[in-house]
Amino acid sequence: MMSKKIAFLLFPGFEMLDVYGPISVFSSHKLNAYYKCLTVSQNAGPVPSSRGIQTVTEYDFDSCPPVDLLMVPGGSGARQEVDNSQLMDFMQRMVAPDASKSGSAPPYLLTVCTGAAFAARAGLLDGKKATTNKGAWAWATTQGKPGATAWQKQARWVEDGTVWTSAGVTAGIDMSLAFIAKRNGEEAAKQVATYLEYTGDYRDPSNDTFCHVIDSPVSA
Ligand SMILES: *[C@@H]1O[C@H](CO)[C@@H](O)[C@H](O)[C@H]1NC(C)=O
Repeated sequence: MMSKKIAFLLFPGFEMLDVYGPISVFSSHKLNAYYKCLTVSQNAGPVPSSRGIQTVTEYDFDSCPPVDLLMVPGGSGARQEVDNSQLMDFMQRMVAPDASKSGSAPPYLLTVCTGAAFAARAGLLDGKKATTNKGAWAWATTQGKPGATAWQKQARWVEDGTVWTSAGVTAGIDMSLAFIAKRNGEEAAKQVATYLEYTGDYRDPSNDTFCHVIDSPVSA
């Protein structure tokens, strides 16, 4: 079986769990290395997270190979980085319908938390249903063209064709497991969740107890 490449797009001030939660899910997949995770940032090398801890990324925007999935995290740095036109260009190029090699399927775009704000700004959520972090709702949902996206409040994640978006931080783990359940089967998702001893709900996206945060955000 051909392995699937997933690029994690890092920027200064990314939220660590948005990245490492899904990496733990996709890289512990039982179908032996079915998913290959790689990291990319504008200049490659060390990228500080919002927690200060750095991650050393492997690829820059020019050297990153075509991938099957582009995973975009959120984090406090998103508020500056949405103005980074090179990052926008990179995202658009990576998920263009013909971006993954040799006539294979169009790449998936997956976002976690305020990663959806990048996708909205890049026009990649136009005409789509999507969700984002409930605590950053007012900001994130106004990054794209007004009215272009049908934002879903009661959702841990939203699937719309090749675009999957998830709510705050841990919702990225639910979305990743749901993605595996859909692409690789329930049993594969269950095996990963069991390995991680994960008790969250990756079957029902509407099992969301954080909607109320939209009206009274907490800051982390
Ligand atoms: C909703 O999700 C929580 C875990 O996040 C789980 O404990 C609970 O059983 C789920 N509710 C239903 C109705 O499945």
